Amino acid sequence: MSVAFSTSSLRTKGYLDLPIPKGIDLKEAIIELKAKKNAVLLAHYYQTKDIQDIADYLGDSLYLAKAAQRVDADIIVFAGVHFMAETAKIINPSKKVLLPDLKAGCSLADSCPPDQFAAFKAKHPGAVVVTYINCSAEIKALSDIVCTSSNAVAVIESIDPDTPIIFAPDKNLGRYLIKETGRDMILWDGACIVHEAFSFDKIVALAKQYPKAKFIAHPESESQVLEIAHYIGSTSGLLSFVQKDPAETFIVGTEAGILHEMQKVAPHKTFIAAPVEDETCACSECAFMKLNTLEKLYLCLEHEQPEILLDAQLMQQALLPIERMLAL
Ligand code: 13P
Ligand code: SF4
Repeated sequence: MSVAFSTSSLRTKGYLDLPIPKGIDLKEAIIELKAKKNAVLLAHYYQTKDIQDIADYLGDSLYLAKAAQRVDADIIVFAGVHFMAETAKIINPSKKVLLPDLKAGCSLADSCPPDQFAAFKAKHPGAVVVTYINCSAEIKALSDIVCTSSNAVAVIESIDPDTPIIFAPDKNLGRYLIKETGRDMILWDGACIVHEAFSFDKIVALAKQYPKAKFIAHPESESQVLEIAHYIGSTSGLLSFVQKDPAETFIVGTEAGILHEMQKVAPHKTFIAAPVEDETCACSECAFMKLNTLEKLYLCLEHEQPEILLDAQLMQQALLPIERMLAL
């Protein structure tokens, strides 16, 4: 295989565009490659079903960050988006961290450019900077502490009540946290395109159609959507809620990939993806997450590319706020 070929396809496409051996069973081949190379596969609930099914660790952002901290493997393959693989690399600078498609980004992370955020931070000297893990390594390096949707309330509550807080990049999660904790925070104006796509009117109409159903939502959703939710939580929070709650039907306000695991843990229950404003798009699916495919995963493991490479000093600066979160 010519290195020039793979490098140029990586540069232009973000993934290895190489031929796959004919008749290969991709799932089997990936499992074999993982064993041969002492690699582990970490996958987020928003990945496609076939990837979720072969993951060594499947979970939400917090669970995957913790898994990255304790894995004893030479290679971590991250089936998720760029900021997640970056976080795994920051936690494991000596390990090889692979992401099947480098273009698997995140609208939320993109909504917070480091130069603009540095200027915003400079306007509020003395404020503690709390950043949602859905941000770039550069933003993490400008932070005091990182949080995920699973531990955001605990992170905010760990901060001295008299100290002002900057929260970035998700304004919707920020507004939810202000309500939950009673802390007045300075919010960065960022959002997730997937969670902002849900339609309040259509959810209300669907709830009328299924009067016994409970509506559950991720806190990245807009305030008016969260106001009508029976339960608000991270993906793992939503997952445990549907197992414990006696309701038989749930309207699920988060990325539709989670429905696969929900159906597995509660097979007798019914899960309906919350409707979105624009019916012509698959907006409740994260297009970034769905860039990862079994084919790209196979090529990535076989050739150990694309690899996440970060500047050593940036990794050191970004590690401290992540470690503070993990120590909580
Ligand atoms: P959690 O994994 O914390 O639920 O966040 C969801 C998300 O948007 C990941 O990109
Ligand atoms: Fe980013 Fe939203 Fe996709 Fe999560 S669902 S990766 S926050 S764009």
